[in-house]
Amino acid sequence: MDVLTAIEQRRSTRAYLETPIDKETLKKLLYYATQAPSAINIQPWELTVVSGEERKRLSRLLVKRMKERNISCGPGARKPLAHVFVQRQKELLRCILPTLPENTIFNDFINEGSCNFYGAPTAIFLTLDNTFSNARFTDIGIVLGYLVLAAHAMGLGACPIGLVTAFEDDIRDYLNIPDEKTVVIAVAVGYRDEASPVNRSRSSRAPLEELVRWRE
Ligand SMILES: Cc1cc2nc3c(=O)[nH]c(=O)nc-3n(C[C@H](O)[C@H](O)[C@H](O)COP(=O)(O)O)c2cc1C
Repeated sequence: MDVLTAIEQRRSTRAYLETPIDKETLKKLLYYATQAPSAINIQPWELTVVSGEERKRLSRLLVKRMKERNISCGPGARKPLAHVFVQRQKELLRCILPTLPENTIFNDFINEGSCNFYGAPTAIFLTLDNTFSNARFTDIGIVLGYLVLAAHAMGLGACPIGLVTAFEDDIRDYLNIPDEKTVVIAVAVGYRDEASPVNRSRSSRAPLEELVRWRE
């Protein structure tokens, strides 16, 4: 699959088969993800791959913490969102909600689903060495982009999971991630459950006129 097709087709997967991903396939995925560019080729990332029962045990802890602390998925805003951002958020809800079983509370689906990595057999945690300033979050974002595109091209589904970084200390303890690493983002990875309606939802994008300024 060429890269433009992967970009065009890829969307986040929120329902997975239990089928495990074999190690060679995971290594191939990680190889492609880590071909990402980084400032001065410093590659400030580390990836922690959690599969099978370990992933499930970690999820049980995350769901417990999420309920105790009443954490909900949000955009990490510093001030109230401008109208345009609120509209885009609502558009995502309009896109996903009709694909969920009747009476599902959207936030519960996202919050609990995220902590469970939507049932994916593998979760990958991307960490940044705290030697670096926030500028290097960009590099982690690029690896994330490569990872989700490579997953798609390899016939896998993926979903970035930012919610769980609210439980960074628990994740660090559980996975023995050293204090000098910041858990920036997690990604659910697995084989898509094609029968699940939620995987047929397709988020939209704002038109270029809304996003691009030209100067000539
Ligand atoms: C940094 C980041 C964090 C995200 N965190 C979550 C999350 O915690 N839970 C979730 O269900 N989706 C999460 N997503 C997925 C977004 O909701 C999704 O990418 C967006 O709605 C666009 O849809 P698409 O990925 O299907 O194109 C996250 C995406 C990014 C890039």
